[in-house]
Amino acid sequence: MEKFYVTTAIDYVNASPHIGHAYEKIAADVLARFHRIRGKDVFFLTGVDEHGIKVERTAAAAGKSPQEFVDEMSAKFKAAWEKLNVVPDRFIRTTEDEHKKVVQEMFRRMQEKGDIYKSSYTGHYCEGCEDFVRERDLDEQGNCPNHKKPPRQVSEENYFFKLSKYKDAIRKWMTEDPSRVQPDGRRKEVLNQLEDPEVTDFSVSRSKNSLKWGIPVPGDEDQVIYVWIDALTNYFTGGGGFEGNGYWPATLHLVGKDIIKFHCIYWPAMLMAAGVELPAGVFAHGFITVEGQKISKSLGNVIDPIALVEQYGADAVRYSLFSGSAFDQDGDFSGKELIRRVNSELANNVGNLLNRSLTLVDKNCGGKIPDCQPENLVRKQANLIHETVDEHMKKYDFSGAINAILALVDQANKYMNDEKPWTLFKEGKQKEGEEVLFTCLEVLRRTAMNLYPFTPELSQKMWYQLGYDDEVGKIGDSIRDDGFFDLIPAGQTVRNQGPIFKRIEDGDGGTDGDKAGSEVAKSAKGKK
Ligand code: MSP
Repeated sequence: MEKFYVTTAIDYVNASPHIGHAYEKIAADVLARFHRIRGKDVFFLTGVDEHGIKVERTAAAAGKSPQEFVDEMSAKFKAAWEKLNVVPDRFIRTTEDEHKKVVQEMFRRMQEKGDIYKSSYTGHYCEGCEDFVRERDLDEQGNCPNHKKPPRQVSEENYFFKLSKYKDAIRKWMTEDPSRVQPDGRRKEVLNQLEDPEVTDFSVSRSKNSLKWGIPVPGDEDQVIYVWIDALTNYFTGGGGFEGNGYWPATLHLVGKDIIKFHCIYWPAMLMAAGVELPAGVFAHGFITVEGQKISKSLGNVIDPIALVEQYGADAVRYSLFSGSAFDQDGDFSGKELIRRVNSELANNVGNLLNRSLTLVDKNCGGKIPDCQPENLVRKQANLIHETVDEHMKKYDFSGAINAILALVDQANKYMNDEKPWTLFKEGKQKEGEEVLFTCLEVLRRTAMNLYPFTPELSQKMWYQLGYDDEVGKIGDSIRDDGFFDLIPAGQTVRNQGPIFKRIEDGDGGTDGDKAGSEVAKSAKGKK
């Protein structure tokens, strides 16, 4: 069976999960579900990054021990993903013993190769980035351009990794197969970074005086392993580490555009030094803004994903995040847009097609799927939808996949309006009426399957109403070798249980979705 091992970045636990973190975890879950129903052996890893100075300081400020603090925060992340129906095969925490051992072994192997040496260093360290910032990149006030805070002047003796030795090999890795780093614009950006002489050997440890909360350097009690070395290694721990569990190398590291240097330069170099196979690919997604603005605590727009799910349901959140904007570019979240899309696309277009079809089947076909094989344009389009969706998903074009499914649903709704099966039945044209219904039911079956990665609950409800007793998420278990899914079975009894997706009404009964969105932001703020 073909394997698909997908990972996400692991989130820092110094603050609660927000919609930007959720965006990436849902995306990985969409891919995991997509490949699973296509019959692949999927392993989906996500988790949290629990070490580092930021976490150490936030715990101290909260009057807690670092361990106590990360235990509480990790539970919050886990709970948020559960609410969103994000179901990883493993939720990794970097404080796990198993992970610590893999990180130390990784360090040891890099050392054995002669790629780690001791040296002293002076630089500007930004705690937000958990990285050194170059002097020329600081803004006019001397702040880190990303975090708008002054970096700390750090001067220490640390262990260094010989990145310079691997620059040529990394360039080759990224150029000989351009699909390894996507989208292409990001690949070019990293290739440019690689040419920068300042992207060179870097410090891979901190003295215990400046950082205690981390994994000790093996054989040197005075030093702690740099948080990025620790964090990146989570992917390898998840893949079974040096013992292996059959999943490494990862098929895909899904990460935000801000951390590609770590994933496309540091990580492959570390793996080469440790003699470990490289991942097959990295994809950098865009950032989510909220109502046009960067997510930030000071703006008060940090939307708590749990509050959002409580207000709208997991499917609505999942769907609205990926239907509107291109995954490889920045996108915006607004309550208004969520309500508009969910109401018009899911409740109206998909919901109406299902409801009308099932009502007519109950009334005219004894509640059973008619036995026929009509040939018409809509059926032809329906037969193509799997391939079309595959094409989009292969390119991580989630909104393209969703739009193709919706276009098919629109086409079927229009076809039903034009053919008027209710009139055909009235005129005694039973066969013709049944053919129209069968066509629409086939579209619905394919819609349930193809929307499933985005809206698992809605799809399961559709599946059940179409008369299936199994789970739509398990169809990959019985997929035929040629990838063809059987037709909806003639004679299967449908179960019309009313709307699969209720229209979302705003609190005021109006359509002021923006207000709804900011109510969530407010309640999320109030909880802290
Ligand atoms: N801990 C590191 C990653 C280590 S991976 C070996 C880190 N953590 S983070 O919490 O700052 O970010 C986690 C992920 O969330 C990153 O991929 C980041 O790009 C993503 N996002 C953070 N804010 C985001 C948005 N506003 N929109 C979309 N993704 C965002 O970096």
